[in-house]
Amino acid sequence: MTGPQAEAVVDLDAFRANIAALKACAPQSAFMTVVKADGYGHGAAQMARAARQAGSDWLGVATLDEALALRRAGDHGDLLCWLAAPGADFAAPINAGIEVTASSAEQLAEILAAPASLRPRVQLKVDTGLSRNGAFGEQWTELVAAAAAAQSAGSAEITGVWSHFACADQPEHPANDAQEAAFRHAVDELAAAGIEPPLHHLSNSAATLTRPSAHFDLVRVGIAAYGIRPDPQLTYATKLTPVMTLRGRLAAVKRVPAGASVSYGHTWTADRDKTLGLVPLGYGEGILRTASNRAEVGFAGGRARQVGVVCMDQFVIDLGDAEAARGDVVTLFGPGHDGEPSAEDWAEAAGTIAYEVVTRLGGRIERTYVGEQS
Ligand SMILES: Cc1ncc(COP(=O)(O)O)c(C=O)c1O
Repeated sequence: MTGPQAEAVVDLDAFRANIAALKACAPQSAFMTVVKADGYGHGAAQMARAARQAGSDWLGVATLDEALALRRAGDHGDLLCWLAAPGADFAAPINAGIEVTASSAEQLAEILAAPASLRPRVQLKVDTGLSRNGAFGEQWTELVAAAAAAQSAGSAEITGVWSHFACADQPEHPANDAQEAAFRHAVDELAAAGIEPPLHHLSNSAATLTRPSAHFDLVRVGIAAYGIRPDPQLTYATKLTPVMTLRGRLAAVKRVPAGASVSYGHTWTADRDKTLGLVPLGYGEGILRTASNRAEVGFAGGRARQVGVVCMDQFVIDLGDAEAARGDVVTLFGPGHDGEPSAEDWAEAAGTIAYEVVTRLGGRIERTYVGEQS
């Protein structure tokens, strides 16, 4: 038996093809690929490089550290980050040419505390109804005034205004219209204060796929670039191919009699004599324990059910009477070319979203890349 015990194979060609298809959804807008949380579990540096190859104008991440890590990995293009803790030191990111987001007047003051010679490029975030980060109501009025003062003093360049949808994965949800209207209103307030930045943006993957009226100057696309639908119940006109395939090699195979129970708590019992396979992946790698006794894996061109609770390092599959041997490959999820489930299927089994399935992966999983370009 050779090869890694468990590996995540990331298909960079599929990623680039997804980006090309998504760019075609918003041809008038610049394109940002979101590579936060280690590229949604796919590897931030590698996905950043592939995104640029596919013509991504911008990259987006949450934290200052994620942005600085991309610079260290050799990315020098347009890059925005949007989540900083109170008291964060903005000097290094500004010095590295990273655009930062101000979500309040207080945060803008923290950004302006960086040495004046750096003249930060700042985007303003308005809360249009997600009630998460971003300035809302009077806070927005305060932020607009502070930004106007900073811009006229020459201490900052205001390069963008943006917001984030709450319900874009439900295209008919009334909150979408309300947020878009609130965004337009906020942009007008900014213009009335003399600030007309070059970039206005609101759309995530779901809105990029379904809501052209919200594309504005730039779209920020995460999950769809990785080939996962924002809502698996919806069929989108744009073809997306899952980028990651997660595999393990059977660490043990055994025949058990009817009545044998499996894993902690004996939550599953064989109803007849059966072959069981042991997959060396567990919640230590981010495999969701809530998928226990519900998920399936791909095996020998078909499917096998996961049985008993998922443990820290391993889980068991029911192979029935199939021929199986130690070292045989089991595919937890992938694009489905060999009949294996998708990350969306695992999400459904675990009662969560596929974003979580891929982003949680880590631990001892070896990541390999196919479709690498020099
Ligand atoms: C501010 C912001 N923009 C865009 C995205 C991308 O969202 P999605 O992965 O749904 O495309 C995210 C991710 O949650 C985000 O936080």
